[in-house]
Amino acid sequence: MKIIRSINNLKQIIKIFRDKNYIISLIPTMGNIHDGHLNLVKKAKLMNTTCIVSIFINPTQFDQLYDFNNYPRSIKLDCKKLMVYNVDIVFIPSVLTMYPSGINNYTCMYVPVLSEILEGSKRLNHYKGVTTIISKLFNLIKPNLAFFGEKDFQQLVIIKRMVHDMHYNIKIISVPTVREINGLAYSSRNTLLSKDEYKIAHKFYLTLKSMADKLQNNIHYVTDLIKITTHQLEKIGFLVDSLYVLDSKNLTCITNNSKNIIILSTVWLGKTRLIDNIKVEIFK
Ligand code: PAF
Repeated sequence: MKIIRSINNLKQIIKIFRDKNYIISLIPTMGNIHDGHLNLVKKAKLMNTTCIVSIFINPTQFDQLYDFNNYPRSIKLDCKKLMVYNVDIVFIPSVLTMYPSGINNYTCMYVPVLSEILEGSKRLNHYKGVTTIISKLFNLIKPNLAFFGEKDFQQLVIIKRMVHDMHYNIKIISVPTVREINGLAYSSRNTLLSKDEYKIAHKFYLTLKSMADKLQNNIHYVTDLIKITTHQLEKIGFLVDSLYVLDSKNLTCITNNSKNIIILSTVWLGKTRLIDNIKVEIFK
């Protein structure tokens, strides 16, 4: 496994792989590698591709400096974990490498509307930061495939739109969220939870799951169900930041004919913000 920090070295090694006609997969991460990331690596390896994992805590997608400074960093351990999974390249650039003109007034990639709704309405500029860094990685690596988890579902929808609109010749592979046995979605932020918070964190998913089951039986009951679920989550100890039921294709409002629905939610547990979602297929 090669650990690469500069763009020149990255380009040189990618050229060697390209000359051999290898298929290149990219798995963009912000590090603090967990089973969710490793599952993406497994998928890329199973598809017999050359696997590049990028580790870059992207400052432009954080709206609070506090959040950026507190984001868990564990590069050495990350590399050890990735080596076990036979990752070919780990790309760990610096902020200056990725933003050569600095992060103020940076040249950006922006997907309108989708970046402004839901999470985007609360976290100003978050998705602009995400699409900018992903487009930079796409431009540098030109992967054939790029893997993203479904946990940040809005991010996935936005990246797919960017790829479509900007004519990137890259196949986006979306991979279902990996969960602990109790249902808690793997997330780098879970390490920020206190012991007591960790003990109840899985109830976020369980409550959404029970909402999904009820929704499947009666789609007309959505507004009440959102109220009831919010109340249930708050009783457990979560502060509900958002809870939406939307059409999963374009994140638009559901109609009586909607078949593919997604429940999207973010909650605060103490100082940690957790995000999760569940897809609901309506059979009519
Ligand atoms: O989902 C993440 O970890 C980040 O938003 C991503 C896609 C690596 C961009 O920085």
